[in-house]
Amino acid sequence: MIDLPFFPVEASTIARDVDLLLLGLLALSGFFTFIVVALIFYFGIKYRRGREADRSNPPTGNLKMELGWIFGLLVLSVGTFTWATILFFRMTSPPEDALEISVVGLQWMWKFQHPGGQREIDELHVPVGTPVRLTMTSEDVIHSFYVPAFRVKHDVIPGKYSNLWFEASKTGEYHILCAEYCGTNHSVMRGTVIVMTPRQYQDWLGEGQAGATPAESGRELYQQLGCAGCHDPGSGVQAPPLEGLFGRQVELQSGQTVTADEEYIRESILFPQRKVVAGYDPIMPTFENRVTEEEILQLIALIKSLSEDSETDNSG
Ligand code: CUA
Repeated sequence: MIDLPFFPVEASTIARDVDLLLLGLLALSGFFTFIVVALIFYFGIKYRRGREADRSNPPTGNLKMELGWIFGLLVLSVGTFTWATILFFRMTSPPEDALEISVVGLQWMWKFQHPGGQREIDELHVPVGTPVRLTMTSEDVIHSFYVPAFRVKHDVIPGKYSNLWFEASKTGEYHILCAEYCGTNHSVMRGTVIVMTPRQYQDWLGEGQAGATPAESGRELYQQLGCAGCHDPGSGVQAPPLEGLFGRQVELQSGQTVTADEEYIRESILFPQRKVVAGYDPIMPTFENRVTEEEILQLIALIKSLSEDSETDNSG
């Protein structure tokens, strides 16, 4: 693919399409700007003071012309809307088999953790040609994860998970920027994505002292925080079992049903009284201020791992 002039390098599978959309919108705006400006000059000259011209302005109508611009503009605006929406859906629907990496933004750095447990700060190693899905949250204020070369950007919000995915199409090193003013050192809150061949990525994973995987760390926390006392099968206190929970529909006391996704699990750890599972008492204590965002991600990884065996069973 030939590089577009005046554009930053395109290093992801959607980069070219984002650029083409931008160029399309620029061309469209440019075209109408040209018409308006040209007419301003034309009429300015034709009707300038002291010039002989017919100024009677009789009422006229031209149905064909009116229908023409009504439907012409309709097609153009709905067309650009459709074009942009298709691209938007592509950008927001990660493939099922994407590599899951967790991101925590904080003043002023980016922390990453790979599925195998490898952690890094301000550097993100990813394989080329592989969809990567980031689950992102913030430890303090709003940040925004931005990789210009991939044409992806998403806010990273405290108290909430946001997702972003990309598939790098070119090996190399690209900037990670924070695109939301987040305090004194906002401008230095930057990092590097290192796109490697899948082979190199495997080697890199092997080199990193993996330590515990997120799910293993989650298991440790689960014991330390005393979750096991209630959530283990056969424990004295009655609490909803966590096996096979992730991704399932959960019925609540209020009669509502929610999907047990990352957001729900995080909320249930921090504010257990908000969404009590039907048939259980609201007796779980809050873990607000007792666990960090990174630890919550590890607990979620544990709960996800408990659901992997029962993934095929979606009957619940
Ligand atoms: Cu973080 Cu700006």
